[in-house]
Amino acid sequence: MFTQLHPQTQTTALGLGTEGLVFGCDYNPEQWTYDTWVEDVALMREAGVNLVAINIFGWSHIEPSPGQYRFDDLDTIIDLLHSQGIGVNLGTGTASPPPWLTTRYPEALPQAADVTTRWPGGRQAYCPSSPVFRDLALRLVRATAERYGDHPAVRLWHVSNELGCHNALCYCDQSAAAFRRWLENRYGAIESLNAAWGTAFWSQRYSTWSEIQPPRTTLSFTNPMQTIDFHRFSSDEQLAQYRAEAEVVRQASSIPVTTNFMVTAHIENLDYWSWADDMDVIANDHYLDHRLDRPHVELSLAADTTRGLAQGEPWLLMEHSTSAVNWQPRNLAKKPGEMVRNTLTHIARGADGVCFFQWRASVKGSEKFHSALMPHAGTQSRVWDESVRLGALVGRLGELKGSRIVADVALVFSWENRWAADLDAHPTSDFSYLDQVHRLYGALWDLGITVDVVAPGAPLDGYSLVVVPSLYLVRDSEAEVVDSFVAQGGTALVTFFSGIVDETDGVRPGGYPGAFRRMLGVRADEFSPLAEGRVVALSDGSTGSLWSEPLELHGAETVTSYADGPLAGHPAVTTNRHGQGHAWYVSTVLEPASLATLVDSVATSAGVTRSRRVDPAHDTTTDSGTGHDVEIVRRTSGDQDWVFVLNHTDEAIAHDIEGYDLVTETALSGRVELAAGGTHVIRQNRKAS
Ligand code: GLA
Repeated sequence: MFTQLHPQTQTTALGLGTEGLVFGCDYNPEQWTYDTWVEDVALMREAGVNLVAINIFGWSHIEPSPGQYRFDDLDTIIDLLHSQGIGVNLGTGTASPPPWLTTRYPEALPQAADVTTRWPGGRQAYCPSSPVFRDLALRLVRATAERYGDHPAVRLWHVSNELGCHNALCYCDQSAAAFRRWLENRYGAIESLNAAWGTAFWSQRYSTWSEIQPPRTTLSFTNPMQTIDFHRFSSDEQLAQYRAEAEVVRQASSIPVTTNFMVTAHIENLDYWSWADDMDVIANDHYLDHRLDRPHVELSLAADTTRGLAQGEPWLLMEHSTSAVNWQPRNLAKKPGEMVRNTLTHIARGADGVCFFQWRASVKGSEKFHSALMPHAGTQSRVWDESVRLGALVGRLGELKGSRIVADVALVFSWENRWAADLDAHPTSDFSYLDQVHRLYGALWDLGITVDVVAPGAPLDGYSLVVVPSLYLVRDSEAEVVDSFVAQGGTALVTFFSGIVDETDGVRPGGYPGAFRRMLGVRADEFSPLAEGRVVALSDGSTGSLWSEPLELHGAETVTSYADGPLAGHPAVTTNRHGQGHAWYVSTVLEPASLATLVDSVATSAGVTRSRRVDPAHDTTTDSGTGHDVEIVRRTSGDQDWVFVLNHTDEAIAHDIEGYDLVTETALSGRVELAAGGTHVIRQNRKAS
């Protein structure tokens, strides 16, 4: 019988039957003929592909009419892949219901906040709380799992696809009923809900559960807790679909089960901290977002967050792209070398496998202009050439499988806080939680400091520094973990709009920043957000923006103060001795250079190690020779290290390094040059050095 491999008990290497790292792709054979399958499988071998995700959108193909299964094509493609030694990441096929389902059962269609229906014709058009969808999906999963549950080619079960990507929030009557059941289960008594939701306000008191609706479109601001709880409920509903499918799979198969997360810049409807324990392998999809200033830094954050979800264990990148996507306003092609750097960032930050969406570019449908390993142009193409070279490189990197990343710094990240902190009717609509997270993470990235991303309340033992960006909603117990970490000698860096409310979105009385006041040794009696575009001068000659506070010292010392405006003379940045440690507070948005200077000095005082040292004021390097936008990350195992050096700039750089480079397959020593956009993965033996 299958034993669930929770992250704590996983073996050190991502299993999945491959010897080295996974190099894989999604494949949609339904879109092609048998002859193409045969050609594709041969080319997959040429590219070094060893794991192929199929049957992701297979439902209407394998169950063309209710209860009539047609597995012959799936049998053939699985056997074909197996004959070439390629493993299968088998979809449960439930990602998108077939048209017959929603025609027969229109009540399974999802509804938006204004209770208008979202129709079929795209994908994922189902209500996550629909009983009929759940029954029919599980019937399909059972048939599929019973057929392939012990097929030797199948290495991994891929439940659904990006659960909640489009249908995370459904407001239909079935969702309303499920929301009420969820609330009853959470609060037990209606008066507990009334207290938690603060329904004394605006005549919102509920007498019975049946009066409660999802936060459908209202005339005015909606009750914030109604919205926050609806997010919690919606995340749990999607997880319930995963659990139901995984349970059916596990009755028929002992192969590991997972689903692909979407830890990425803009998709925030699921609280993956509460999902992670249900996965046998943590898997993520990540696409570079060219709308961001520095997309590769966001990629690093996503990869570090995914490693956090895997509790430091190896994880799998289930999807990324060889070049352009199709869903951004302007779909930029990746530059030569960019796909390789993206791939290596994921591996550097803990992925033991990297897969692409998709193998062969579609010629029909809305994703036909999405890149693939095999572009429309065929093998006579830059993307194909780079993909084949990348497959060979990933093959060579097999030796680092199972190695780990060691970080001195923890960054506390919370999806729940994203739902709460960014709500309307707050001090300023210019605030964005993710923006604050990215700023702090970016400053650490620029300093070459490797970061573990952790959940609020996660143990902080072993770290030197914990960074807490704008953690507006935090439980007492979670704030207490940071407090005692500092009291015992750690260092914390907390930014404004932190500690304000508890899990019921109730403001902590007595002054800001609420739960962290004592640890930080400061108090503000109000917020003072800045007018649009306004900046405020600071005593060190720099400026703050977006936010300020009439901060008073209660034991802390001033690092920088406000130098003009109504708050002139008040502290802006402070540091406080708390127990054996230090807690720093930043009450405004510092400009990037001064945030870098501050983070540098906090990290230095906390004794944080870094892969390189950059002088933030001059954007030049003082140690190893590398500059800004050069990423250096170390994976480690026993006496062996692998140092990833990724040059994201358009210029060649020189740096000092010793070891064997797995990219160029040469020994490097002393000062070496790394081409513009180039990469090294350098094996070092710690005993020898
Ligand atoms: C997601 C989905 C894929 C595909 C890609 C396109 O990751 O899982 O099916 O749509 O996006 O970028």
